[in-house]
Amino acid sequence: MHCTNSKDGRETGNRKKIVLAYSGGLDTSVAIKWLEDRYDVDVVAVSIDLGQPGDMEANVERARSIGAVSAYAVDAKKEFAEDYIWPALKANALYQGVYPLSTAIARPLIAKILVDVARKEGAQSIAHGCTAKGNDQVRFDVSIGALAPELGIVAPMREWVMTREEEIDYAKENGIPIPVKKASPYSVDENLWGRSCECGVLEDASQEPPEDSRSWTVSPQHAPDMPAYVEIGFEKGVPVSLDGERLDAVELIVRLNELAGSHGVGRIDHVEDRLVGIKSRETYECPAAITLTKAHQSLEGMVLTRDVLSYKKGAEQRYAELAYDGYWFSPLREALDAFMEKTQEFVTGTVRVKLFKGMAEVVGRSSPHSLYNEGLATYAKGDEFDHTSAKGFIYVWGLPLRTAASAYRTDEASGDRGE
Ligand code: ARG
Repeated sequence: MHCTNSKDGRETGNRKKIVLAYSGGLDTSVAIKWLEDRYDVDVVAVSIDLGQPGDMEANVERARSIGAVSAYAVDAKKEFAEDYIWPALKANALYQGVYPLSTAIARPLIAKILVDVARKEGAQSIAHGCTAKGNDQVRFDVSIGALAPELGIVAPMREWVMTREEEIDYAKENGIPIPVKKASPYSVDENLWGRSCECGVLEDASQEPPEDSRSWTVSPQHAPDMPAYVEIGFEKGVPVSLDGERLDAVELIVRLNELAGSHGVGRIDHVEDRLVGIKSRETYECPAAITLTKAHQSLEGMVLTRDVLSYKKGAEQRYAELAYDGYWFSPLREALDAFMEKTQEFVTGTVRVKLFKGMAEVVGRSSPHSLYNEGLATYAKGDEFDHTSAKGFIYVWGLPLRTAASAYRTDEASGDRGE
């Protein structure tokens, strides 16, 4: 993690310190001042780059101008890709089978960085800008608790009762710069692994998401009429190249988001079960995540044995739920990671994916460890399968059912009415 820090050298005495996850937006800008006033603390602002748009250095300046005693810009893209995204990909982690958990797996990393800064700064607590209705508050609070149970947690937006208009008034009264860009009708969260979009007209789950809620993907009907093919190289379950060019994790994901997004791949419309008991309509754009998950699953299908594939499926679902539920830093997630890691030992090879009008379709795969044997599979000449073995195998395979059928035979079936 690459990190720059800026202190303004003000002497603030012995006030307690709080570390704030600072996005640069209105809510967390207001929070800097609000925390100082409400809790009489010095605020240390931390802006973390996980691949979302925005200028972290500008955030540092803004935080200081509002009154933060110290402000950090942390580039955590590499750590996010290698230590959070790749493990999730190895587990083919999709919440409820559809959502690649882009927001969910970012939260524990943000929590970890906030805890690191809190320790370095000798802070007593951490603050984040989550509201009381979402999953993110759970993920932050639980992750911070798992890493540093001694730290206090404050979520200003769970405490204050300000409407957006009141926040703007508060900002004006306190000389807090209000972000110039027009407020979006949606609540958006973005990072390398995807973009989530909720609220506004999306709350009517019966209506198609309008185009203005999308930003990473073109509409499939406007996607190019010619497909693109991309060959993804994997080593031990980790994507390492695109079309033969070796790329680091961040570059590979960025390029694939671009390419797959330009073909309309990765749009998701999900009525999702939040941990806090609410069903909510969420939309996502995850071009790279969807393409890589399909490719990875397909390579696994060729390399892993049937029993590992089947057992792993159940573990994958549990893994996705743990990530969703804020249990990233849990003994179970760590144990499942060890299992996933073992399964990836031979998941090496290349997968060819066709990107076309919203679809990412695997059209070819190969691996030095493939269990697919053409000699065994073929119906044509060169068949190596021993046909004489089939009858004996089926005799044994069906034996328990034939045994049960005669043992459980009812009187009626045997024709004996027993009268
Ligand atoms: N529903 C998704 C999740 O729980 C996305 C949440 C997006 N968060 C946000 N603050 N807009 O992971």
